[in-house]
Amino acid sequence: MEWGTCPGVGPGAEVLGRSLRGRRVLELGCGQGQNAAHLASRHRAQVTAVDLVDLQIQGARDRYGEIPGLTLLASDAMRFLQHTAVVFDSVYSVFGAVGLVDPRPLLAAVARRLRPHGILGFSVPHPGRPGSGPTGGPQPRHGTIRLPDGSRRPVARWELSAAEWRRALARADMRAIAVRELGHSGRAHPTALLVIARRN
Ligand SMILES: C[S@@+](CC[C@H](N)C(=O)[O-])C[C@H]1O[C@@H](n2cnc3c(N)ncnc32)[C@H](O)[C@@H]1O
Repeated sequence: MEWGTCPGVGPGAEVLGRSLRGRRVLELGCGQGQNAAHLASRHRAQVTAVDLVDLQIQGARDRYGEIPGLTLLASDAMRFLQHTAVVFDSVYSVFGAVGLVDPRPLLAAVARRLRPHGILGFSVPHPGRPGSGPTGGPQPRHGTIRLPDGSRRPVARWELSAAEWRRALARADMRAIAVRELGHSGRAHPTALLVIARRN
């Protein structure tokens, strides 16, 4: 499992829990589903992976649709969290919906579907990378993401500093237990922020 922008840099699936076998795990913004497929096939977790964009889920199903224990759904992350009745052991996002959806309602919705002491892990583009800087408030920055067919889709990005993520998590009844900066070989600055939190 990769959390950062450089393969092999940073921790793997262990940050989501010591043994994931049979655990209910949710990915928000799975893209083509490579991390969800890894958790279901290698760690035998029961993984639900959602992505807003149909094309991403179609691609994920083409590649990984046969893996037992992996459910791939086209859905907005907030909408899924508001409608599911499942309580998850771990929730995660790798440059996915966390950071691309207003953190205040999203983290509150995650906390409602995470079991007590369950883990939320997410990586986001590092807010201090060159040319960036934390948005530092409720207003997101506007940009685009590239889809597998080469098209670009507009997105809003909430780029919080580590301290702002800690505060946002605390407001949502979660506690940051680790914040790590992840680098990329050949680049002087960290490219990703990895945040691991525990539901109270
Ligand atoms: C930069 S991609 C990362 C994909 C994948 N996690 C990876 O590491 O390759 C961001 C993904 O988040 C999805 N996304 C954006 N907003 C979302 C939302 N509100 N709900 C669910 N998925 C969302 C996008 O469609 C896109 O596939």
